[in-house]
Amino acid sequence: MATSALDRAAPGSRPARTRSRAKEPIITARGLTKMYGTFTAVDRLNLDVYPGEIFGLLGPNGAGKTTTILMMLGLSEPTSGEVRVAGLDPTRRPLDVKRRVGYLPDDAGFYPTLTGRQNLRYTARLNSLARGTAEDRISTVLAQVGLADRADDRVETYSRGMRQRLGIADALVKDPDILILDEPTVAIDPIGVAEMLDLMRRLVQGRGIALLLASHLLDQVQSVCDRVGIFSAGRLINVGSVDELARRYGGDRSEILVGVEAAPRTDAAAIGARLASQPGVVAVEPRPMSGDGDLNWALTLDPKASESETRAAVLRAILADGLLLTRLTRTSPSLDQIYRTAVEGHLATKGRVEVRSTEPGTGTQTSGGRRPRSVGRRASRRGPSARKGERR
Ligand SMILES: Nc1ncnc2c1ncn2[C@@H]1O[C@H](COP(=O)(O)OP(=O)(O)O)[C@@H](O)[C@H]1O
Ligand SMILES: [Mg+2]
Repeated sequence: MATSALDRAAPGSRPARTRSRAKEPIITARGLTKMYGTFTAVDRLNLDVYPGEIFGLLGPNGAGKTTTILMMLGLSEPTSGEVRVAGLDPTRRPLDVKRRVGYLPDDAGFYPTLTGRQNLRYTARLNSLARGTAEDRISTVLAQVGLADRADDRVETYSRGMRQRLGIADALVKDPDILILDEPTVAIDPIGVAEMLDLMRRLVQGRGIALLLASHLLDQVQSVCDRVGIFSAGRLINVGSVDELARRYGGDRSEILVGVEAAPRTDAAAIGARLASQPGVVAVEPRPMSGDGDLNWALTLDPKASESETRAAVLRAILADGLLLTRLTRTSPSLDQIYRTAVEGHLATKGRVEVRSTEPGTGTQTSGGRRPRSVGRRASRRGPSARKGERR
């Protein structure tokens, strides 16, 4: 293992915030690779995660996110390359790493007949926390995740979202420097997701920890991440803030939103056609927006360079038609669009032979792909006691 490689920063992996730029990364991966037989689940991963940032590891099911996390935790041994967590090699010092890292697996389980507080006490004991310290900390983290008033109810009475929040509390009990959450918003309703993301933001701001979050639900998590890494078929194909990626993948087109007030005789089709006839406008799509009774359209502009001329032309046309403008804004591409562009580009350059098919029966892609999983994951299927014992 070439330690010198760790001194070199991964290309394109600068943190977005000045706040964290001065700091040393707390998680570092260089050439990190995991093979299952001849199948490469994680392929030469280079990554830096800094204290005080929320880093989103984003990619579809089967991209290699969980495998990467398991290597960071010392639960799965890299085939080659290296990873350091808080300066430690997780393969050699898994217990020290576990002391520093709070981990919420994608299938976190608790003892259903114990209360939230009792479950956290169990975790505290596993982490050898002194009783007094533990009780204080348990109350603090339960309050932080908004479970203080349900702390003494049995976990079996909790909603899925509450269990998820208890999972975060569980990861926080040992006061970690790093929090790793694997698919933390899966199967929670939209309000629960918003609460969860809000909680993550407050935790990172309040405690200055690094948060690594793996998700295949791009639209849900993009708002909370300072930086994201886009994962596809085992490779991290790009890293940056959502804005940076938008610039990188936005291509030569841009998008603006145009809204006009709807009056009784407003002819939406005629306005749409009028917008489409403006120079530089290549596509017009009605874009209903909740909360207003206006008529809105998304306009795709090409080339991006003449966007201001096009905006001026659109404005003139609307005024000339006696319409009342309610909106004329530039929108950046969503992470979902960025992701599709990036992944398509990546798969195209890899060439068809290496592209892992999503067709049924090929067994190399998507969630139902190749199992068995690592030891920690298999243990979790057997129930909380086995998982509890092996996860920490
Ligand atoms: N223990 C294992 N044995 C064989 N293949 C595995 C094992 N664990 C994961 N894989 C495969 O590695 C790929 C990446 O899986 P995973 O890391 O779980 O992806 P993600 O978390 O992004 O959904 C998948 O194709 C998966 O089936
Ligand atoms: Mg996963």
